[in-house]
Amino acid sequence: MPFYETIHIRPQTQLHLWKIEEPLDSLIAGVPLQDHSLIRLHKLKSEVHQKGFLAVRHLLQHLGFSDADLLYDASGKPHLSHGQHISISHSHGFAAVAISNENLGLDVEAMRPKVLKIAPRFMDVDTHLSGLSLAEQLQKATIIWSIKEAVFKIKNEKGISYPSHIREQPFDPAEGSTVARLDFKHQTELFPVQFIQREDYIFVCVFES
Ligand SMILES: CC(C)(COP(=O)(O)OP(=O)(O)OC[C@H]1O[C@@H](n2cnc3c(N)ncnc32)[C@H](O)[C@@H]1OP(=O)(O)O)[C@@H](O)C(=O)NCCC(=O)NCCS
Repeated sequence: MPFYETIHIRPQTQLHLWKIEEPLDSLIAGVPLQDHSLIRLHKLKSEVHQKGFLAVRHLLQHLGFSDADLLYDASGKPHLSHGQHISISHSHGFAAVAISNENLGLDVEAMRPKVLKIAPRFMDVDTHLSGLSLAEQLQKATIIWSIKEAVFKIKNEKGISYPSHIREQPFDPAEGSTVARLDFKHQTELFPVQFIQREDYIFVCVFES
């Protein structure tokens, strides 16, 4: 299945989803790539990553952009040549791009039980998971992991620790929003967070303001 959905996360922010179901060959055939993108594609070791990389190009094509409109800075952060902000994420079955007038971070994660095993290493388990069923814990821990990845994509600074520097206000997943707080280098910043679930995947957008 190709293009899946566009979600209007905010008035100036659209989240576009591609469900990755095509074989690698048909993803490669369907999208023209610049030389440096071809080199990157061939350096990606896993087929899952290659498919994600290509599905993002298909999404851009669907939106009227091309691979040539996508530029990367030295840290690997993507930018659109015409000036709007973009954030990219892919995870097994889905690729997603968020395009906005605001600086933002996007993360997509599949809800997998492994997240509960590692949760104490990246989040405050007592605050967020106590009293929840196993299914609710899985959903919430995945949202929180994604929030931290998305905050990292906005800030893009070495030294940010997920458990020590990024915290989330207590939230009910049914509300689809919360606020993340970054305490780093003697500064505190607040980031509005919007999230949705599609199938077994969590999609999180974090905004700079
Ligand atoms: C950069 C990072 C957030 C990417 O997350 P991921 O889950 O591995 O992969 P995703 O699919 O969600 O995102 C990949 C996309 O992020 C974008 N990206 C890569 N580096 C980026 C950066 N520095 N800033 C913003 N976006 C970045 C790219 O567009 C990339 O996809 P593409 O290269 O195919 O275009 C992650 O690799 C990372 O480095 N996290 C920090 C880890 C960390 O500090 N952990 C501390 C634990 S205590």
